[in-house]
Amino acid sequence: MSDGRFKLLRESDTDAIVRDFQTGCDLKLEPDSDLDGAEVTLLMQINESMGGRAFVTGRDITAYLDRIPLEELNCDQQIIEVGAGISELLPSIVNNLGDQMPNKPIVIDPINYDHALAILTEACTTYRNDSIVGVLIDRIEEFRRRCEIFMSDKIDHLRMTLRDAVDSMHPKVFGRADVVIELFGPSYHPDIDFGHDASPCDMETLLTIMKMRRKLLKDPTTGIDISNGICEEQLSTNVCSLT
Ligand SMILES: C[S@@+](CC[C@H](N)C(=O)[O-])C[C@H]1O[C@@H](n2cnc3c(N)ncnc32)[C@H](O)[C@@H]1O
Repeated sequence: MSDGRFKLLRESDTDAIVRDFQTGCDLKLEPDSDLDGAEVTLLMQINESMGGRAFVTGRDITAYLDRIPLEELNCDQQIIEVGAGISELLPSIVNNLGDQMPNKPIVIDPINYDHALAILTEACTTYRNDSIVGVLIDRIEEFRRRCEIFMSDKIDHLRMTLRDAVDSMHPKVFGRADVVIELFGPSYHPDIDFGHDASPCDMETLLTIMKMRRKLLKDPTTGIDISNGICEEQLSTNVCSLT
């Protein structure tokens, strides 16, 4: 594409990285990754005030179904997904039900979808003949389509962290949700909001993140907060202390 902005790096025979020197974004392609939904990942620079970098994946809806009770969702609810990344859940919901939804789903995530789309597009144009890119080309194209939906007017994207959304009492999300969903978002990667890489997430951090998510609910007693944070089931005994 343009003047040395992108480069394909090969660290081993089994993975490749497309690097964007303009945005500081790395697209890692690892066909044999044993991490569920992480054969294509992005390591993205998050703007200075948010600190650090974000590890971005794009799990399919099946991975969500395995972990969270999606049968609790219906068209009338205001859904907020925290840390959606490039996952399939909301693109799939708006493609299938968007016309019937009175409220657009909202994403809270510091990801820059413009930057993600640029590097994914580069991978499947300039580097499509590379053997590793070739193996994952359908996946990369799928991620491009999802980015376009996240950037469209079908979804409202707040490019900020959960903490910033809650601390600023952002009018679009504070006390606005019927359902809050988080899968491998800040609970797994709390470094952005907490200034350290707490993996596995410690209990205190998890509890803080849970409390923040619940501030997004219209009614914390009847609203639905579904997430897969590590050890979260152990926290259910503490739920009464969350409101
Ligand atoms: C590993 S990805 C998970 C993406 C998707 N949910 C999935 O399961 O494939 C983590 C996502 O959480 C976002 N994230 C990390 N820290 C966050 C925070 N404090 N607030 C909101 N989003 C955050 C990242 O930008 C990234 O998109």
